Amino acid sequence: MAKSPQPLKGMSDIFSPEVEVWQTLERRAREVMSRFDFREVRTPVVEPVSVYVHSLGDTSDIVQKEMYAFETRGGKQVCLRPEGTAGVMRYVAGNLQELQDARLYYLGPMFRAERPQAGRKRQFHQLGVECLGGAAPLQDAEVIALQASLFKAWELGPVRYRLNTRGSVEDFPKVVEGLRGELADHREALCEDCQRRMDTNVLRVLDCKQPGCRGVVETLSPITTWMAPESVAYFEEVRKALDAFGVDYEVDPLLVRGLDYYQHTIWEVSSEALGAQDALSGGGRYRMNVGGKEIEGVGFGIGMERALMALPEEVRARFAGNALPLICLVSQNEAARDQNLERLRKLRALGFRTRMELSGKSMKAQMKGAGRHGARFVVLQGEAEVNAGTVQLRDMESGEQRELPTEDLTGALKSALELFELKTSTESEE
Ligand code: HAM
Repeated sequence: MAKSPQPLKGMSDIFSPEVEVWQTLERRAREVMSRFDFREVRTPVVEPVSVYVHSLGDTSDIVQKEMYAFETRGGKQVCLRPEGTAGVMRYVAGNLQELQDARLYYLGPMFRAERPQAGRKRQFHQLGVECLGGAAPLQDAEVIALQASLFKAWELGPVRYRLNTRGSVEDFPKVVEGLRGELADHREALCEDCQRRMDTNVLRVLDCKQPGCRGVVETLSPITTWMAPESVAYFEEVRKALDAFGVDYEVDPLLVRGLDYYQHTIWEVSSEALGAQDALSGGGRYRMNVGGKEIEGVGFGIGMERALMALPEEVRARFAGNALPLICLVSQNEAARDQNLERLRKLRALGFRTRMELSGKSMKAQMKGAGRHGARFVVLQGEAEVNAGTVQLRDMESGEQRELPTEDLTGALKSALELFELKTSTESEE
């Protein structure tokens, strides 16, 4: 038998009941964003390659080996966006007057040509936040606090914050020079990649996982050694503000992050629930030049697939079942069907989630269908009920069934469903 077509490797279809978990996370994220006064921005999925090469740095892993780049028929070099920040900055640069202190977020697919494994996909989704404006320690801390609120609203299990500083853009040449100086004597002990990184992107030597490199890195001075006192003080301020915001974190002097646009505060959030690919989110303060305009801000990106994986089982099950309870209408004959069609329209207008079989199946088949669709209640109308001006309301969970005058139906459904509404309205409480 021919195999049915599958999505490309590293890309997934997302469907029920998982898609309801996504929707719950997305809905709660939008609520949190609105409370912190962040607005959504939707930028294109395809961008000119230059938008990324310039801001991520041409020695970054993403630009070197992970971009889906291609030439359009018109000969333009374009790519599927591997992350959100650079595209949002392109948009900001074009509207700098209004957006210089904008608070933006985005949610959507990103693409990286990585080797797929659990938690690492070629099409994945990020919820990203970008808070524009020049270096201000309190702002960095507020963005981290926003992220912590989000994780709380998502009811994620325990997460670990690792924080570090890269110093200012002005410190950078001194940090590079200092590191190269100390590494020069150990060149032979480094892996081949790190020997190359020493010349191209020396900071990345610090987060190499090879045992040989780790041994060398342990002997190095902390990178703050080569930073201006103001940069070290900046980091101190961020840490103090985080204590005030009540965010638990640890300082990891070897954290560097893989993108060139960062300066000052950088952080990563991991979750033990994730296994090998344990980075749930990464972020930091950045400064980049876009089309001759200097843009500064602070932000983070959360891998949505990984957030889903990090949800405790009980929470995930609850989020999956978060849709409104379903009501199915079942009719025995044409007269009942006509009344049910009218009822379908009314119930939907009132906000009930309602469906009915439209292809003329027997009552038995309609009941079976209602069970298969997961109906919480069935409204049944046979010939006797049509004549009596009544309906049967069946609770599919308890199996209980009672007859009501048709005009009492919406009232009965409302009071039965109030219980469910109460359940969902507590969601937004922190
Ligand atoms: P990033 O660390 O490259 O940062 O990605 C952020 C998060 O996206 C990661 O922590 C991870 O959860 C998720 N992620 C990355 N690659 C994959 C993949 N192949 N499969 C599944 N999930 C993945 C950025 O993208 C920056 N733009 C974040 C930022 C925003 N910094 C400042 N503003």
